Amino acid sequence: MDIDERVRARLAAGTRFRDLRWLAEVDSTNRVARDLAAGAGPAGGGPAEAVVVADHQSAGRGRLGRSWEAPPGTALLVSVVLAPRRLRLERVHLLTAAVGLAAVDACAEVTGVTPDLKWPNDLLVGDRKLAGILAELVTTDPLVVVAGIGLNLTAAPPGAAALADAGAKGQAIDRDTVLLALVEHLDRRLADAEADVDGWDRLAARYRQRCATIGREVRVEALDGAVRTGRAERIDRAGRIVVSFPPGGREEAIDAGDVFHLRVGSAR
Ligand code: BTN
Repeated sequence: MDIDERVRARLAAGTRFRDLRWLAEVDSTNRVARDLAAGAGPAGGGPAEAVVVADHQSAGRGRLGRSWEAPPGTALLVSVVLAPRRLRLERVHLLTAAVGLAAVDACAEVTGVTPDLKWPNDLLVGDRKLAGILAELVTTDPLVVVAGIGLNLTAAPPGAAALADAGAKGQAIDRDTVLLALVEHLDRRLADAEADVDGWDRLAARYRQRCATIGREVRVEALDGAVRTGRAERIDRAGRIVVSFPPGGREEAIDAGDVFHLRVGSAR
C-alpha cells in the first residue's frame, strides 16, 4: 500500500530524509537504496539521504549472506541512505547502533513495548527476534552507508516476535506510523551525534545502556567458522563488542561475525 501522504509531508519538511520511495514489490530495498546512493555522484553534492520502503521483497537480504523473508504486508521493510557527518570509517558500526536505537524508540512510542538490542543488529522481545538490521558500505570517502531494517509487524517466522503480539492485545499496528516514528527518531539521533565532537560518543553510550548483550555469556561465531564462548563486557567507542574469553579472561574487540546469547546450560 502506498505511503500515507502525511508521512511524506512530515519527512520532507522536518527531516534530512526528503526523498521517500515506495515500491509494492522489489527484490531488496537495500539494493535499490545502494543504486540510488551510487547513482548520485559527488557532482550533485553527495547522495540524497533517501528512504526506500516496500510492501514485499522477493530477495530480501540478511546479514552474512542470509536471506530475509516476510509475507507481503506483514513487516516494515525499509532501507535508508546515510551520509553521516563527523563519523570516521572505523566507527561505521555506530550507524547500525543509530538505526537500532531509533527502531527501539519507534516501537516504544507506537506500542509502549520497548524491545532490547542484541549486538550487533537485532531487536529482541524477550529472547525472540523482532527485527534485524543490515548495514552495507557504499563509499568510504565520502562515507555513505545503506542500512536496511526488517521489522515484523503482524506476522513473524516461528520462534520470532511480531510487534502486534508484543504490544497491547488487539492493538492495530500501522506500518506508516512505525515508519514515520523510526525515521524521525533516526533523524534526531543522527543530528545529535553530528552536533559536536562528543556526539558519536553520546550515541555509543546510549547504545551501551540499551544493549542486552552486555554482561551475558555469549557464543561468538567468527566469519572463518571458529566458535568460542565468553562474556560480553562492553561496547567500545567504535561500536564493537568486547568479549573476555577463558582461560584468563583475555579481552578481544569483535566487529564481525555472529554473537548468540547463552542461557545457563543452553547452546543458544
Ligand atoms: C538480519 O537480521 O540478518 C538483517 C535483516 C535485514 C532485512 C532488511 S529488510 C529491508 C532491507 N532490505 C533487505 O534486503 N534487507 C534489509
